Amino acid sequence: MAPRIVVAGSANMDLVGVASHLPLPGETVLGDDFMMAPGGKGANQAIAAARAGGHAVFLGAIGSDAFGVTLNARIGAAGVDTSHIRTSYGASGVAVIMVDRGGENSILVAPGANASFTDLTSVEEEIIAGGDVLLCQQEIPVRTVVAAARAARAGGTRMILNAAPARALPAELLDNVDLLVVNEVEAQAITGAAATDMAALLALVPRVVLTLGAAGSRYASRDGQDEHVPAFAVEAADTTAAGDAFTGALAVAWGEGRDLIDAVRWANAAGAACARKLGASNALPTRDEIDELFGAA
Ligand code: RIB
Repeated sequence: MAPRIVVAGSANMDLVGVASHLPLPGETVLGDDFMMAPGGKGANQAIAAARAGGHAVFLGAIGSDAFGVTLNARIGAAGVDTSHIRTSYGASGVAVIMVDRGGENSILVAPGANASFTDLTSVEEEIIAGGDVLLCQQEIPVRTVVAAARAARAGGTRMILNAAPARALPAELLDNVDLLVVNEVEAQAITGAAATDMAALLALVPRVVLTLGAAGSRYASRDGQDEHVPAFAVEAADTTAAGDAFTGALAVAWGEGRDLIDAVRWANAAGAACARKLGASNALPTRDEIDELFGAA
């Protein structure tokens, strides 16, 4: 049976512009291309989990505007259970994303309705407690992430925190995290130590994945495991949401009972497959695409 992945997080409409280079402060750059697609780390990870073979449920808030209607429809069309999405009066979250021809990006997020997701209902807590894996990020109020982690612990649901974007993490949250996924910037912000100081991260949570972009990932646990997991070489068109593809696939693989090193390797393939395409949710790979890249290595 497909693992039940519950995602409590953000949904944004991504407005993506592509240009030869990212604008400097005060500079206007004539771009090449524009696209609009659903995004937000929460919605992306829910879609990533659904495409990777999980039964994904998304808990989050959209606005009462036209973006909200599109977000709801597109997240649902991607195979995610949207029946518990809240609609809050006002604007949906929006991300303004600029991508250069080398695939680098810069992102500005206006939270909109995501900021209204300030608590959990008892129904949402039950959904989390009934899941195999809870997945959270940091684009919604931290108190909601804390409440979700608490509900997961109470229900015996494993909790993955993708601590992106970097923000202060309360001890009450860290106490209920089973697996932390961070990139180097986030790792440094959390511990104040060097990004590669896995011991500093393991002092906070029992298991850590440090994502290293084109260099793959590193997995370490309090059980004494510490392993570099190599990347899959692809030509990157846009790295936006590659971390979301990784985290969604990781949740599915862990929920299926795969060993965590193997799960991280499979998730690396998902991240690489995502980076081959422009955009966020539209670039998230299917299980077949992940398996194909995974098997080709
Ligand atoms: O991780 C990529 C996502 O970050 C984008 O979809 C954007 O909405 C921002 O939340």
